[in-house]
Amino acid sequence: MNNNKYVTISTEDLIVNTILNFDIFIKSKDQTILFRKKDHPFTAETLSKLVEHKIQSLLISEDEVVEFEKYYHNVRQNTITSLTKKGFSPPVFDQPENVKKYYNSHFNYYPIEKATLIPDSTVSFSVYKKTLIDVELYFGPENQNGKSNIVPADIQETSFPIVISNTDISLYRKYLQDTTKEYFKQNYVSPELQCSVIRENSKLIIKEVLEDPRNGENIEKSRDLVETLANTILDNKDNFCNLLKITSHDYYTYMHSLNVCTLSIGIGEIILKLERPVLNEMGLGALLHDIGKCTIDPRIINKPGRLTPEEFKSMQNHVLAAKGILSAKNGSIPQRSLFPILQHHERISGNGYPYKKKGDQIHLFGRVAAIVDFYDALTTDRPYKKAYSPFETLQLLTNAQEDFDQSLVKAFIIMLGKQAKAQEQKAMTIQQL
Ligand SMILES: [Fe+2]
Repeated sequence: MNNNKYVTISTEDLIVNTILNFDIFIKSKDQTILFRKKDHPFTAETLSKLVEHKIQSLLISEDEVVEFEKYYHNVRQNTITSLTKKGFSPPVFDQPENVKKYYNSHFNYYPIEKATLIPDSTVSFSVYKKTLIDVELYFGPENQNGKSNIVPADIQETSFPIVISNTDISLYRKYLQDTTKEYFKQNYVSPELQCSVIRENSKLIIKEVLEDPRNGENIEKSRDLVETLANTILDNKDNFCNLLKITSHDYYTYMHSLNVCTLSIGIGEIILKLERPVLNEMGLGALLHDIGKCTIDPRIINKPGRLTPEEFKSMQNHVLAAKGILSAKNGSIPQRSLFPILQHHERISGNGYPYKKKGDQIHLFGRVAAIVDFYDALTTDRPYKKAYSPFETLQLLTNAQEDFDQSLVKAFIIMLGKQAKAQEQKAMTIQQL
């Protein structure tokens, strides 16, 4: 009897024309069978065979995880070297002190949008420029030179992302409620800017909810937020685009949750034309779809590099963890809101997780969540990896015929195309004025 234990790796971890220093296995009819022996090259032919049979994950013996790690590290090093030659700045995360710095800047600082800061207004919090692994004081009370508390007149023209310390979040919230709101009352404000403020307020709410998801009050806040977002899109369909991120320089679960919620409401409202109460239920599920991530080590969620097989496995637990968190809520979450949460990693082919549901076994809300979750995750920059463009991501969704509901994918592409065109036309009209 074979007592070997296996861990899962992705076919994407293997690079064509490299020698694998470990055996690879595949699962076939509940049996684990040897697919390629170690010390043999991983050829394009082998890869196409796997693709042909729709095999995306492979198994390696637990005893050979170290060998796999070595292989992965070497392959990655070579890729970095060849990218450096092409002028791509190499990641700095091979040095532990840089990883530490990155975690410090990621966990202790909060990204804000420049659009909500009014030039020449006074702030009571410090604003920092965010670099890849560090932060640098930009302006604010901590700066002792001259007009330290004044928002620079040229802030909107700068290109770097800005952050504030987590300890100043309540001061920023107050600024949004007082200074920004007051300015917006007295001046003409474009829908884009209005949406920036809605987005900033939404981010603050979602961050709070995800930090304390067991708190009943936070679930109520989530319902109100979905209502606000749906109203904003219903008022003016252009707002749908304005509510989506402008640029995202790094991954934050609360930003991802906001984008997944906005995209789901867009599909629900514009494509599926759902009745309002149903739309709200879908939106709530989309907003909370990654609620289980609060149980996962944040250093894994935000790891600046590819996850090890063990880390990947622990990450996958977030779906079932969500079930645990929400079952304690005793019906305060509508039944249908559970579908985006429990099914956003399921795939039509049955190759998803955690239940390996297939086709129609996946609820419509689960199929929508799978598409928008994939779309937003891939179009977000990571500190070690550039994001895919929307076009490339939509192409990947279209190519994954077996995994995603293609009628929804098609409608999603048309919807994004129409919105982009409307934005373009609006920009041209403004230019002509
Ligand atoms: Fe997820």
